[in-house]
Amino acid sequence: MSVPAHVCIIMDGNGRWAKKRMMPRTVGHKKGVETTRLAVEFFAKAGVKHLTLFAFSSENWNRPAEEVGSLMELFLQSLQKNTPELNNKGIRIRFIGDRFAFSDSLMDEIGMTETLTQDNQTMTLNVAANYGGQWDIVNAVKKIAIRLDSGELSTTAVNQALLESELSLAGTPDPDLFIRTGGEQRISNFLIWQLAYTEFVFTDVLWPDFSEQEMQAALNEYASRQRRYGKTGEQVEAI
Ligand code: IPE
Ligand code: IPE
Ligand code: MG
Repeated sequence: MSVPAHVCIIMDGNGRWAKKRMMPRTVGHKKGVETTRLAVEFFAKAGVKHLTLFAFSSENWNRPAEEVGSLMELFLQSLQKNTPELNNKGIRIRFIGDRFAFSDSLMDEIGMTETLTQDNQTMTLNVAANYGGQWDIVNAVKKIAIRLDSGELSTTAVNQALLESELSLAGTPDPDLFIRTGGEQRISNFLIWQLAYTEFVFTDVLWPDFSEQEMQAALNEYASRQRRYGKTGEQVEAI
C-alpha cells in the first residue's frame, strides 16, 4: 500500500464537539490535544515522514479574546507536557508561521522544543501556528524582493524553485494527503501553495472524535487514488 510521505491536517471541530455537550469551547480544545497526540503517534508508526498540523491560523486572532488566551495557554502547557515523550520517540518538532506575535514564554518554549528535537529522524512534525498560506507567500516574496533590491539576484533568477526555497516548508516535499475533520470543505488559508497536487480527504468527524480507525481510513482512501499530475490515466498506469 502506498503510504504518503507528507500528511497535513486541518484539525477542525473542537468547538462544536464541546457545544454538543453543553460545555465551553475550551473543553473541546483540551480534548483535541489528546487527538493530536494520538495522530502524531499513529502517522509516525504508519511510516509518514512529515506531518503538518494546523493549530492556529492567522485569522484565529479574530476569535473572542478569552478563547485566544486559553488556546495560547493550552499550546504552552501541551508543549511542556508532550515534548519529552515525542523527543524520546524520535519526533522532530518545528513551527511554521509568524511566531513573533506570541508571548515571550511561548516563543521561548517553541525555540527550546525545536532545538531539543532538531536531530530526530523518525518523523518531522510541523506545527502551523499563527500560520496563513497567504502570509507565507508574501513573506517569501519579501525575502526575494530584498535580494533583488540589493542586486544580489536578477529578475531572471525568479522562478518557482526560488519562491519555494523561501516558503516556510522549504526542503519538505509537498503534502501528498490533506485531511480536514469537522465537515467543512475548504482550505481556510492553510498551505495554499503546497497543496497544488495534494489528495484531499474531508470527514464530518469532529477532531476530538477522530480515531485511529478514521486515520487508517484516510490512508486507505489515499492509497486508492490515482495521481496524474496532468497526464492521462493510461500514461500513469504504464509507469
Ligand atoms: C479547531 O476547532 C481548532 C482551532 C481553530 C484552534 P474549532 O475551534 O474551529 O472548532 P469549531 O469549528 O468551532 O467546531
Ligand atoms: C482552520 O479552522 C484553522 C485551524 C484548524 C487551526 P477554522 O475553524 O479557523 O476555519 P474556518 O474559520 O471555519 O474556515
Ligand atoms: Mg473551526
